[in-house]
Amino acid sequence: MAQPRILLVVGGGIAAYKSCELVRLIRKGGGDVTCVLTEGGAQFVTPMSLAALSGNPVHSTLWDLKNEAEIGHIQLSRDADLVVVCPATADLMAKMAAGIADDLGTTLILATDKPVLAVPAMNVRMWEHEATQRNVAWLKQAGVRVMQPDEGEMACGEYGAGRLPEPEAVWLEIAEVLDIDPGEAGAAEIADYLEALEPEEEPEAEQSRFASLGGLLASIIPRSTPRRIEEEEVEFDEEFAGEELGELPEEEAIDAVPDLSNPLLASKGAARAAPPTDRDAINHEVSANQVAPESFDGDEAEEPAIEDDPLAGQDEFESEPEHRPLYGKHVLVTAGPTWEAIDPVRYLANRSSGKQGFAIAAAAAAAGARVTLVAGPVTLETPRGVDRIDVVSAREMADAVKEALPADVAILVAAVADWRTKEYLPQKLKKRQDAPPALLLTENPDILSTIAGGRQRPKLLIGFAAETESLLPNARKKRKNKGADWIVANDVSKDVMGGTENQVTLVREGGEETWDPMSKQQVAKELIERVIGELA
Ligand SMILES: Cc1cc2nc3c(=O)[nH]c(=O)nc-3n(C[C@H](O)[C@H](O)[C@H](O)COP(=O)(O)O)c2cc1C
Repeated sequence: MAQPRILLVVGGGIAAYKSCELVRLIRKGGGDVTCVLTEGGAQFVTPMSLAALSGNPVHSTLWDLKNEAEIGHIQLSRDADLVVVCPATADLMAKMAAGIADDLGTTLILATDKPVLAVPAMNVRMWEHEATQRNVAWLKQAGVRVMQPDEGEMACGEYGAGRLPEPEAVWLEIAEVLDIDPGEAGAAEIADYLEALEPEEEPEAEQSRFASLGGLLASIIPRSTPRRIEEEEVEFDEEFAGEELGELPEEEAIDAVPDLSNPLLASKGAARAAPPTDRDAINHEVSANQVAPESFDGDEAEEPAIEDDPLAGQDEFESEPEHRPLYGKHVLVTAGPTWEAIDPVRYLANRSSGKQGFAIAAAAAAAGARVTLVAGPVTLETPRGVDRIDVVSAREMADAVKEALPADVAILVAAVADWRTKEYLPQKLKKRQDAPPALLLTENPDILSTIAGGRQRPKLLIGFAAETESLLPNARKKRKNKGADWIVANDVSKDVMGGTENQVTLVREGGEETWDPMSKQQVAKELIERVIGELA
């Protein structure tokens, strides 16, 4: 193909700025590109930028008399060798799937007789929404090529799948569809791009770019602040309606073995999961001071014995409740692990014992607060004066937290599982002759960032960061990305999980405090003292 002609429809997403780079790469690769800006797209990039970069006029309206005298939209759609929709917003894909043609972009997509490539970009929840997935499936069935969005940090501060693939990857896809050599086009950039897939962390520049976009979004998308919550005395159910936790889907009973054709394990962020056929990954060694994972060879799991009294060191209550510093305050604490059921006998879990969270709940109650403790599956005694809600899975914990709000302070200590298996198998998965089963994972709700962005955000929101490496950088990043006020960072590479001692650093906006190693009760007392100081 001498000079491939691309018709680029730019939709109204925050990633529209990347279409400018795509235009540059197409031209560098010897292609001709004509841009169509939707009304939404024009909110994010100007026709001037696209015209200057493409060297062609930019079209944005169906009601252009000169062009329409020549049935311009039909001509535009036929002149191209390929129509690329980038970014393909949820709205554009919904219209494409429904056959709606109410502006120039959607009309020419409907009118074209050429292949169409859609490059989606949107918030992770929008991407995962059943409606979007249904539209994508329909478009694929209808012959539209839909690229898989990248996974990572989003402009809005959330994490997951929905980021626009890098322009270099889009150009490679275009070259593949048109069966052309990507050639010199951005050869260096493509090499950089492929290399950039290797490192585990996002480059700093990328992070700061998103940080600034996050700032832009934060200023556009209304998020309630503690002050606003005080002003608006809205009923809880209404307040949470439409928030991210929303209606968490019921676990589906799917009578099927996992799909082996899919990627074996989901990856989250920098973590790359080992394939389940890796014997070392399955039968990994654990250090002698950690409890070995329980066996699920059909035997019933035994409840771990209670080693320590979680109430040890709990302050005696003052006789007059109103003299206690947190009297009249509601403190919400989460503690323990979550268990994510794979089938009726197996689950994904972690080593959290719940001791730190229980100690914090005890200390808050001792200070006079009304305390709600949402506890994962642990066998610890409930501290005095604490209302306890037992849950098992991350989604149950998210629901219970939502029910427990509003609170003045939320201290989220629980080690909530990041992932669960995509399908819950109603029957015990049988051992097979050939290979171990593949587990396809999906992300659990992120309770901390959901509360942080919700309308019932507590005045003081504290998260815990259990890390095994880069403790403080990760904790600082978590505080910022998740919208927490404070992060208590603890290094769990040794025997903190399950142990009685802890060593933490309190990360706040104004600075950081690293405390000496001390008992979990002492950590709880110190933390509650800071909370009292903050609320005073
Ligand atoms: C700041 C901001 C960013 C947005 N980002 C996206 C996005 O990345 N993806 C998306 O599908 N919609 C996004 N939207 C919503 C779309 O702009 C909206 O659905 C619009 O109608 C899409 O227009 P289009 O059909 O011309 O693409 C965003 C809206 C705003 C205000």
